[in-house]
Amino acid sequence: MFDSLFNSHWFDNQMFTSQFWEWFIIIPTLGGIAGCLFLIIWMSGNRPKSNEKIETMGHVWDENLEELNNPLPMWWLQMFHITLIFGIFYLIVYPGLGSYKGLWESTEVKTYEQEMKAAKTKYDPIYEKYQETAIEELAKDKTAVEIGQRLFATYCTVCHGSDARGVKGFPNLTDDDWLWGNDSKAIETSIMKGRQGAMPNLNLSEDEINTLAPYVLSLSGSASPSAEVITKGKELFTTKTCVACHGPEGKGTQAMGAPNLTDKTWLYGGTEADIKLTLAKGRQGKMPAHGDFLGKAKVHLLATYIYSLSVNK
Ligand code: HEC
Ligand code: HEC
Repeated sequence: MFDSLFNSHWFDNQMFTSQFWEWFIIIPTLGGIAGCLFLIIWMSGNRPKSNEKIETMGHVWDENLEELNNPLPMWWLQMFHITLIFGIFYLIVYPGLGSYKGLWESTEVKTYEQEMKAAKTKYDPIYEKYQETAIEELAKDKTAVEIGQRLFATYCTVCHGSDARGVKGFPNLTDDDWLWGNDSKAIETSIMKGRQGAMPNLNLSEDEINTLAPYVLSLSGSASPSAEVITKGKELFTTKTCVACHGPEGKGTQAMGAPNLTDKTWLYGGTEADIKLTLAKGRQGKMPAHGDFLGKAKVHLLATYIYSLSVNK
């Protein structure tokens, strides 16, 4: 029954476009304020004159401890008055009653946009100041590198880690092994435009994978398979087009983001099982483009920080 109620057009049309929810909020809000006001007026009446004896409620404890019917203290009542006045003032200037926008027409989106704009006028000149300096030069400027580091902490650590050392699938940016290159231009492009790694699934048979995986590991001396496996692996490495991207010696091609397979640094792990998974399924690491989002000036500082990691070691 509830299903049909919630799915019915009546529910869509009436519950959300009618003024039901408006009054659902307005009535208890105003009613609450009126109720408090009434309660306060009621409680603050009948103040006893100073010489009048305050009546007792008739409750006595410990022989002579009596509960007297004292009115609320004045300061306490004043606090209620102030709270009520504040509440009414708030409801007049801010949106709080149904769709009434408030005198100041303040919305959270507007406030957010104003704050962003204020931050932009305040910080943009700080970033832009560095834009004209070449990254190689800028990497020697301690302040610039520190600003880059702070930007990195905000925008990049989710994937690359707070120390930029990466995790499986997300490259370490502090070592000497680069998928796409670590000259200043390559780094800036990686951040600005993003990168798409494309290791294809080559539909290799299980036998081929079982030969290629130890062969790939032998390239970095991480495994020492038999001479037969090496010969067969080397052959497959050519016939299965691995050479087209990773190069005849497996040293990689930065123009394609194809990693060097002869070092012991692995993006996706260096066990035989990891390599087999790469060969069976392919890999598609994606570095998102940040240019539009962050703007040139910030990317320049970020690139400076990344560049400094491998240079200022
Ligand atoms: C959503 C995750 C993600 C975020 C966020 C991210 N990156 Fe990346 N980044 C990657 C991946 C994945 C790669 C590897 C792409 C590939 O496999 O070719 C990469 C690659 C890179 C590279 C190239 C590394 C190389 O070896 O050539 C640089 C430089 C880089 N990122 C810097 C940054 C900076 C600076 C930021 C912050 C503005 C950032 N990344 C934010 C996931 C991310
Ligand atoms: C079209 C180009 C291309 C071809 C062909 C290709 N690869 Fe790759 N390979 C890549 C790219 C690009 C990556 C990185 C993927 C990423 O960044 O997500 C990669 C990643 C790898 C990795 C993972 C390296 C690591 O650090 O974890 C291994 C292993 C590998 N390839 C081996 C091979 C073998 C063996 C072949 C042949 C059967 C082959 N590749 C064919 C482009 C290629």
